[in-house]
Amino acid sequence: MNTTIRTQVGILGAGPAGLLLAHLLQKAGIDSVVIDSRSRADIEGTVRAGIVESPAAAVLAKSGVSDRIYTDGMKHDGVEFHFDGGRHRIDFNALIGKSVYLYPQHEVLRDLIAARIRDGVPPLFEHKADAVLDAESSCPRIVGTDAAGQTFDITADIVVGADGSGSIARIPVSGSRGGYFREYPFGWYGILVEAPPSAPELIYSRGDDGFVLISTRDKKVQRMYFQCDPSMDVNSVSDDQIWDRLQAGVAGIELKRGPIFKKDVLRFRSFVAGELRKGRVFLIGDAAHTVPPTGAKGMNLAFSDVLWINQALRSFFASGSERLLDAYPHNALDRIWRAQNYSYWMTSMLHVAPDASEFDKKRSLGELYSVTTSRYGQQYLAEGYVGWEYGADDWM
Ligand code: DHB
Repeated sequence: MNTTIRTQVGILGAGPAGLLLAHLLQKAGIDSVVIDSRSRADIEGTVRAGIVESPAAAVLAKSGVSDRIYTDGMKHDGVEFHFDGGRHRIDFNALIGKSVYLYPQHEVLRDLIAARIRDGVPPLFEHKADAVLDAESSCPRIVGTDAAGQTFDITADIVVGADGSGSIARIPVSGSRGGYFREYPFGWYGILVEAPPSAPELIYSRGDDGFVLISTRDKKVQRMYFQCDPSMDVNSVSDDQIWDRLQAGVAGIELKRGPIFKKDVLRFRSFVAGELRKGRVFLIGDAAHTVPPTGAKGMNLAFSDVLWINQALRSFFASGSERLLDAYPHNALDRIWRAQNYSYWMTSMLHVAPDASEFDKKRSLGELYSVTTSRYGQQYLAEGYVGWEYGADDWM
């Protein structure tokens, strides 16, 4: 049996980008259908990273997705940088007058899914897209298979690929290969641990052995990472070795320990797709780009794409004009490349490459001192960290 659906905007991916877009479109009276190969329990149950920039928090709150971010989220007014045996605080509030919110991405997803259900248009979970067809016609299609093994065919005026780094929508737009890449010779070994926070703010550390990050999820669960070889086996270190490595990274703070209940190795990649549009198919979020995790730009950057494409779709459905659709790649790429630079910069400044010379190591310390001891340097760091204001500001 084949299910056929007709909608204005077919959205692949019930991640933060796809769901926020569906929510904003609905507020403008534009129909959409969101599909995802994963189940709702899978999407809501995976513990994810959690820094929401100040402008991203405002979008979620003002669009009616969630006020919880301001009540349940932890407001952080700064971060600490540890290096060369010393501690340096970057005070976002004093420097920029803004804060970030520690509100894990799975909570954002719960809020966004709840909003779709409340509005009577739940995402179609366990719907796996096999292909996006007819990109250059006026009615592109998403074809695939659902959990019961039935095929589906969604025909839309516009298809938006928000289906992450393994995007199916990217194939007709930009090809399965190509684009702009950078690999890194290191990754992160991450743990989730049952313990209270060790410090009131996040600690980014650069030691002789490389990077350490002490982050948090909530009052009972903490997230910590140390730099590792990207091909490292998660089971090749004992818990004691993990704690030694993390503790060595922080100066003057005793880490609060507890049972480690998840261990993983994250690989780093910088990527921007060669094209963000083909005909009536557009890419947003991780389908369009990936940043290394340092600085936690991923979801916040995806929201910028959402606001640009939302603005363009509103104009298209209101007037038939493709002017803003044509402008989408140019508009989105401005922030994409600024965020790529920021994530690359934070990553390279705080990690020690396996082949780093003594010169390289001392130069990196010079860079860290230049940034953390100058008000202008601190301000540059803080401005990017709390998040630049979004370009498409007429999103409501
Ligand atoms: C986290 C991840 C990041 O990349 C970062 O810069 C800060 C925090 C996290 O997982 O909590």
